[in-house]
Amino acid sequence: MNLLDVKDLRVEFTTQDGNVTAVNDLNFSLAPGETLGIVGESGSGKSQTVFSLMGLLAKNGIITGSAKFEGKEVLNLPEKELNKVRAQQMAMIFQDPMTSLNPYLKVSTQMMEVLMLHKGMGKKEAFEESVKMLEAVKIPEARKRISMYPHEFSGGMRQRVMIAMALLCRPKLLIADEPTTALDVTIQAQIMALLNDLKDEFNTAIIMITHDLGVVAGSCDKVLVMYAGRTMEYGTVDEIFYKPSHPYTEGLLKSIPRLDGEVDELPTIPGNPPNLLNLPTGCPYQDRCHRVMDRCKQEAPVLTTFDDQRARACFSDWESWS
Ligand SMILES: Nc1ncnc2c1ncn2[C@@H]1O[C@H](COP(=O)(O)OP(=O)(O)OP(=O)(O)O)[C@@H](O)[C@H]1O
Ligand SMILES: [Mg+2]
Repeated sequence: MNLLDVKDLRVEFTTQDGNVTAVNDLNFSLAPGETLGIVGESGSGKSQTVFSLMGLLAKNGIITGSAKFEGKEVLNLPEKELNKVRAQQMAMIFQDPMTSLNPYLKVSTQMMEVLMLHKGMGKKEAFEESVKMLEAVKIPEARKRISMYPHEFSGGMRQRVMIAMALLCRPKLLIADEPTTALDVTIQAQIMALLNDLKDEFNTAIIMITHDLGVVAGSCDKVLVMYAGRTMEYGTVDEIFYKPSHPYTEGLLKSIPRLDGEVDELPTIPGNPPNLLNLPTGCPYQDRCHRVMDRCKQEAPVLTTFDDQRARACFSDWESWS
């Protein structure tokens, strides 16, 4: 059985200027221990997708569709049920660690509280388990540093503390929303390596959100490429890297830095994502697409599955691309 099955997930926001569909009929699934990358530019709906799973949507958001975690519906759950799901089944790490760490409490207090509340541990056991988890995320001198406050850790170390917090109850799914964008490149690489190690150690499935396809290459099994709330392309990492089937993916791939490259400036996709309140008729990517055809301006391509598990929403004849 899949760990997570998402069907026709839709997130709409009511705003003064009209309704915004931030997530538009998303479908994906995740097996235990598998890693899915969700990739797309700013505003494409990546965060709202996972916020809807975690019950973290803003008040003006409406969720429809279905998301089953081990066969049980998790969308629109009452708060009490949600709290159980959140800590014990799926946990989330954010771009900014301070969003989930309390600056006024020692790290030890915050970690132990989670274990005492959700796992019914006593103080001593909770302390030992917390130290163990800090050691697992490679915090040096964990036993000593656990008594410090969050601000006494560097940015990269704080991110590690947050990962340790998220893993405390051994969730089966870890959701990482741009966990490394606020960090410098070396630390980014260390955190990604750590997540990969932990995934093996705890057999955790991961949803990795990023705007950088480069991050996906080293860490994910499957990739979902999003644009304007929709799936443009979905497939395995190998398929998407070696033979992208959507011009948007091609554009994202061109903007990955290469170690062997001598390029001074990376090409980026010209233009900006469309305003969700004012989407064009047809494909939302048409204005920026280097393969646009007349048809794309008249009707939106429907997401079509091919080669078993792959899917794309595009009219172009990709197999003839060179
Ligand atoms: N409460 C809200 N009311 C109205 N629109 C919202 C609300 N929250 C988010 N949106 C809109 O939903 C869209 C998708 O947002 P989302 O946060 O998922 O983007 P993202 O892909 O995570 O982008 P980023 O990479 O910048 O984090 C955006 O256009 C955003 O403006
Ligand atoms: Mg986001």
